[in-house]
Amino acid sequence: MNASLPAPILLGIESSCDDTAAAVVAGGVLRSNVVSSQRVHAGFGGVVPELASRAHQRLIVPVVTAALDEAGVERADLDAVAVTYGPGLAGSLLVGLSFAKAFALALDRPLVGVNHLEGHIYSVFIEAAGGTPVAKPSFPYLCLVVSGGHTELILVEAGFRHTLLGRTRDDAAGEAFDKVAKLLGLGYPGGPAIDRLAATGDPSFHPFPRTRLDGFDFSFSGIKTAVLYYLNRFPETERARLLEKHLPDLCAAFQQAVVDMLIDPLRRAVQATGVRHVAVVGGVSANTGLRAAAGALSREAGFTLYTPDPAYCMDNAAMIAVTAHFKLAAGHTSPLTLTAEPALALR
Ligand code: KG4
Ligand code: ZN
Repeated sequence: MNASLPAPILLGIESSCDDTAAAVVAGGVLRSNVVSSQRVHAGFGGVVPELASRAHQRLIVPVVTAALDEAGVERADLDAVAVTYGPGLAGSLLVGLSFAKAFALALDRPLVGVNHLEGHIYSVFIEAAGGTPVAKPSFPYLCLVVSGGHTELILVEAGFRHTLLGRTRDDAAGEAFDKVAKLLGLGYPGGPAIDRLAATGDPSFHPFPRTRLDGFDFSFSGIKTAVLYYLNRFPETERARLLEKHLPDLCAAFQQAVVDMLIDPLRRAVQATGVRHVAVVGGVSANTGLRAAAGALSREAGFTLYTPDPAYCMDNAAMIAVTAHFKLAAGHTSPLTLTAEPALALR
């Protein structure tokens, strides 16, 4: 037994897409965070669901074991088992959820089901043991969730009370990064590669169109098609020369267009709600261009900006365990009949 760690001690499990992850949180503070990103998808330019579920099956036991070991926690020390139950890929969710249910049942501990989007929303509250203290937003705060599967603008009114202000009508911002990276011959996931190349490119190289919708909704299918049409203008040899010479410029021009299309609704939502705290979370929140633009907007509009440590932007179980800590404190546990909900929305 580990008597030295503060209660409650929670194990968090995340397997909604292509990252198999487990983390331990004690007294609300992160003790371990293990993520195994699957490499099987790199050659496909996107996640292959069947391969993802098989990889989760292989990785879930070693990843959970590593998270417990790193935290110095025995199974019997756990007070609850938390797990993502949606949204995500059905087969991927099922692996983590089935494992978590079996673990909770065997240990006779409560199960805490966590909505993956809530995990991202509360990722700005993750505080690691021995790390520097983290400034946390107070309610109400605006949260821009930007990931491979989601682009949502949410008003977080209080703990687990949210209003969805806007969402993408088609592709997620991260999906646009990944698809354009594929067009440009970069690997998967494409966001980090585009971000790196864009750093040395000229964003004014080409004026890709910006889609602007009423309200706070987003759309990223147009920019993806615009990049495709732009490349198709050139015969094959010329295109190869263009990419050789101007790949960083194309990345910078594309990235700037995506950043503008994220920042514009955010600016209008800040004006409309008058909130003083804004969080930008999810895989794409690691993007240096987006971070810089959100920082500039925070100075211009006078709000405080919160972004997770880059380690907690991409999918991870630390955010699931921390969210579960808050849920448990509010008395929310889940029955062992909890089912995977691939299309789970915020509620
Ligand atoms: O949050 P996440 O790990 O998974 C989902 O919930 O979808 O986000 C993954 C997405 C991928 O589309 C990846 O290309 C994108 O985040 N991403 C980035 C960056 N790092 C990751 N996009 C732009 N710039 C980055 N630095
Ligand atoms: Zn995610």
